[in-house]
Amino acid sequence: MGKVYIEDIAKHAGEQVTLSGWVYKKTGKGKLQFIMLRDGTGIIQAVVFAGNVSEETFEACQHLTQESSLEVTGTVTEDARAKGGYELQVSDVNIVDIAEEYPISPKEHGIEFLMDHRHLWLRSSKQHAVLKIRHEIIKAARQYFDDRGFTLVDAPIFTPSACEGTTNLFETNYFDTKAYLTQSGQLYMEAAAMAFGKVYCFGPTFRAEKSKTRRHLTEFWMIEPEVAFCDLNQDMELAEGMLEFIVGKVLENRMQELEVLERDVSKLENIKAPFPRITYDEAARILKDADADFVFGDDFGGADETIIAQNFDKPVMITHYPANIKAFYMKRDPERADRALCVDVLAPEGYGEIIGGGQREDDYETLLARLKEHDLPQEAFEWYLDVRRYGSVPHAGFGLGIERTVAWICGRPHVRETIPFPRTMYRLTP
Ligand code: 4AD
Ligand code: MG
Repeated sequence: MGKVYIEDIAKHAGEQVTLSGWVYKKTGKGKLQFIMLRDGTGIIQAVVFAGNVSEETFEACQHLTQESSLEVTGTVTEDARAKGGYELQVSDVNIVDIAEEYPISPKEHGIEFLMDHRHLWLRSSKQHAVLKIRHEIIKAARQYFDDRGFTLVDAPIFTPSACEGTTNLFETNYFDTKAYLTQSGQLYMEAAAMAFGKVYCFGPTFRAEKSKTRRHLTEFWMIEPEVAFCDLNQDMELAEGMLEFIVGKVLENRMQELEVLERDVSKLENIKAPFPRITYDEAARILKDADADFVFGDDFGGADETIIAQNFDKPVMITHYPANIKAFYMKRDPERADRALCVDVLAPEGYGEIIGGGQREDDYETLLARLKEHDLPQEAFEWYLDVRRYGSVPHAGFGLGIERTVAWICGRPHVRETIPFPRTMYRLTP
C-alpha cells in the first residue's frame, strides 16, 4: 500500500511522511501544539509549530477534539524523550472529521458505561493491548497445530444435538424443525480425526450460561484438537506443549502490550512444560486441607479452582474426575470404572479452567449405554455412533477456551475484556 504506519516509524527517520489517524490527546501553548496521534499500530507525538504551517492550519489544529480524524504530513525526527523514540515535525494537516465530544475521557468510568461504549472503548490503550494479545494467542495456537501436521476442519454452528449436556443449549428455529447452536465442535472432530488422523477446529461456541461470573460468556471461542490413536497421556502432552508455545509467542512478540497492561511477565516466563499433574482426589485433598466449602464428588466451582491453582506456579492438569459429573462421551478408567479418563487444565494465579478434554469412549456398546443413561436421543447420534462402528480406535482431544486464556495471559480478571464484543446473559449490545 505504500502507506506509513506508526509501528514502522523508525524506518523513516529523517524522511517526510504522511500519517493517518485520530487525535488521542492534544495539548498546546503559544505557538506550539502537541497532537498525540493514534493510527491503530501505535501512538506518536506530532508537533505543530506555528512557524512551520500555514496560519489556517495552525488555527484549525486548535479546534481539534479528542478522536478527530486527520492526515498529518511532517518529518520524522529522533527524540530520546518521546515515547517510542520519535516525533513528527508537522508541515501540513488535513482534517478529515472533527469528532463530537467524545464520551470516554481519561477520568474513571464505571464498567457498565464502558461496556455500553465497547465500540469506542476498543480504542483505549489497555483494551487495544488485550485484543492485540488475543490475536497473537489465536495465531500461536493455530500455528502450533499447523506445524504438527494437523488439518483444520471447520465444525458446523447449527447442530441437531447437545455435546456438553442439554442444560445450556441455545435453541433456534430451523425451518420446520429445531436446531441448537453448537456448544463444542468435538463430536465432529472425532469423525474428522478418523478421516485425517490429526485435526482441529477453531470457532465460536455457544452456551446459555445463566451464571453471572467473571469466567462465563454465552458466546466464546474454542480451539479443539482431536487425535486418532491417542490416549490421555499423549493428549496432556499435546495440551502442555501448546500452552508453553502460546505463552512463548506472546512473550516474543507482544512485550509492549504486556507492559501497557502492567503484566508481571516473570510469571509467564515460568510457563514451561512439564506441568504438574494431579488427580481429582488429590485436588479434593487440597480443598479439604484449605477448609474449603467443597463436597467430595462434586465438580469444582470457581472458588475451588482458585484455591487449587494457588498451590502451583504453572498450569495444573487435573485428571480422573468422577465420571458421573462429566459428559457422556468420556472414556472410563479401566482400573476405576467410576472415573473418567479426562483432564481439566487450570491456569495459575486464579484464572480458572482454561482447557477441558480427555480420551473418548471408543466402544460402540458402551457409548450406546451412556447415551441412554444421559437421556440423549439415539437417532440424533447415529452418525456419531458410526465413528465406533467403522474402524473405531482410541482417540483423545481437548478444547482451549480463548477468552479465559487471554484473561490469564493479559492478567485481566474478567473475560468480558478479552473478546471484542462480549455476549453474556445481561449483554447483547453493542
Ligand atoms: O470443558 P469444556 O466444556 O469442554 C468441551 O467443550 C469439550 N467438548 C472440548 C473438547 O474436548 N474438544 O469447555 C472447554 C473450555 C473450558 O475449559 C473453558 O476454557 C472454555 O472452554 N469455556 C468457556 N469460556 C467462556 N465462557 C464459557 N461459558 C465457557 N464454557 C467453557
Ligand atoms: Mg470443562
